[in-house]
Amino acid sequence: MIILKSPEEIKLMRESGRITAELGALLKENIKPGVTTLALDDLAASFIKKKNAVAAFLGYRGYPKSVCFSVNEEVVHGIPKNRVLLEGDIVGVDAGVVYNGFIGDMAFTAGVGKISAAAQKLMTITEQSLYQGIEQAKPGNRLGDISHAVQEYVERNGFSIVEQYVGHGIGRQLHEDPQVPNYGPAGCGPILKEGMTLAIEPMVNAGAFEVEVLNDDWTVVTKDRKLSAHFEHTIAITANGPEILTKI
Ligand code: MF3
Ligand code: CO
Repeated sequence: MIILKSPEEIKLMRESGRITAELGALLKENIKPGVTTLALDDLAASFIKKKNAVAAFLGYRGYPKSVCFSVNEEVVHGIPKNRVLLEGDIVGVDAGVVYNGFIGDMAFTAGVGKISAAAQKLMTITEQSLYQGIEQAKPGNRLGDISHAVQEYVERNGFSIVEQYVGHGIGRQLHEDPQVPNYGPAGCGPILKEGMTLAIEPMVNAGAFEVEVLNDDWTVVTKDRKLSAHFEHTIAITANGPEILTKI
């Protein structure tokens, strides 16, 4: 069941989205060669506390930390640890915050120092594919219009869409209906309505689309160990079209 949000509830989600975006900006500023993902997670935890918010992922299905950091061939759900980020790495940062009882969820991928042109292209295309999807998030369209726009853009640019993980409805729960795949035909699925709030999150691989989970039971990696990128925004569907709630 898709839970529609009232204008008052969307106002609250705007606030949790803003804190999530501020957290994202803070982490982005602090990504540089020599820093560990654990240090970045500590920074995130103290920022969230200072804002009187709660990390949405901490304890979710047993997830042990506040934020996910996925480096290079890691797709999503990388656990912060004493891994030092090196010049040329790319790191996907996925953060969620609960505030006012509502959740904001966002992700971006950033380069560490100077990165290769190929890595930069993967990141740019992935981010642009997210915006292609968001553009379709307006009343009267169907969910499949979002999915199709993302897939079409990514594949046209020679990359592949991860199918095993998808975006989702979001609100008081991190994962609400509907699932938001990053692939599929246009014109299918539920009709989009004012008051729907969605997390759209393309995960895009430089090589093949297949992924697997490492022995830590969390970290998703590409099977071919080629690079992957991930971008995500929480959006609200308004009468005027999509409103991005987690814009940095
Ligand atoms: N953005 C991810 C999602 O929507 C983050 C979940 S990580 C988890 O699934 F640790 F909370 F599972
Ligand atoms: Co999400």
